[in-house]
Amino acid sequence: MSEPSPRFWPLFFELYESLPRQGPGNRECAGRALALCRELPAAPAVLDLGCGVGGQTLHLAGLLPDALITAVDHHAPSIERLRATLTARGLTGRIHPRVADMAAAGLPPASFDLVWSEGALYNLGIDRALRLCRGLLRRGGYLAFTDAVWRRDDPPAAIRASFESDYPAMGRIEDLLAAIARAGFTLEGHFTLPDEAWWEEFYTPMEARLEELRAIYRTDPEALTLLTQLAREPELHRACSDCYAYEFCVARWLG
Ligand SMILES: C[S@@+](CC[C@H](N)C(=O)[O-])C[C@H]1O[C@@H](n2cnc3c(N)ncnc32)[C@H](O)[C@@H]1O
Repeated sequence: MSEPSPRFWPLFFELYESLPRQGPGNRECAGRALALCRELPAAPAVLDLGCGVGGQTLHLAGLLPDALITAVDHHAPSIERLRATLTARGLTGRIHPRVADMAAAGLPPASFDLVWSEGALYNLGIDRALRLCRGLLRRGGYLAFTDAVWRRDDPPAAIRASFESDYPAMGRIEDLLAAIARAGFTLEGHFTLPDEAWWEEFYTPMEARLEELRAIYRTDPEALTLLTQLAREPELHRACSDCYAYEFCVARWLG
């Protein structure tokens, strides 16, 4: 793939950082995944890996009112935004954001009851990420994460290319479940994110923000071309959401 224009990433972040979240998911799915963590302690220690600006971290705080949550992301501006939200909502005592690479965050081993990660583990490679999460969990702890999977063997070339540049190892649900078993976890359940979980907090605000950015950059042809490129993602999803999915998986480390 050719190098993106030097203006691509600044515009990408200008768009993504302003959204309620940086990937698909919603409160209902978080609640459904949590319901699969049947023996979670009443006041669990929770770790949210790759939290972005904290869309799902805030859902977790609402769904688990006595949880203490550590939220990690390596992108400092996202963590700054989460900190500002927590201050505004009076949640600084319960959620502790941290700028760190999730693979080297210096977190104490075997210290969490629940490791949560929406749309982020694939960045490490799924096998490595699952081993990392296992090491952070107390015996009996849960791992709840989402990951992209193919639903069709014959996606259109544009869809295949867009995923393959970002996630070349993306497999099917069975591959994900095999990785979970390989890492020594017991599967508690899994489900596919419904289409509204792609739109409500992610693509609908993205398309609205793209309109605002087009107005801001209306006299800047290079920026407008890059915004058209960024607008392709929700458009492709609208055209071919049956080709791929995000799967929510909940697994338990029984030691
Ligand atoms: C697709 S976004 C999902 C964000 C958020 N979980 C959500 O669903 O809205 C993936 C996030 O993982 C973060 N990330 C990627 N690799 C990381 C790493 N090695 N360590 C920490 N965060 C990472 C990115 O900065 C980004 O915020």
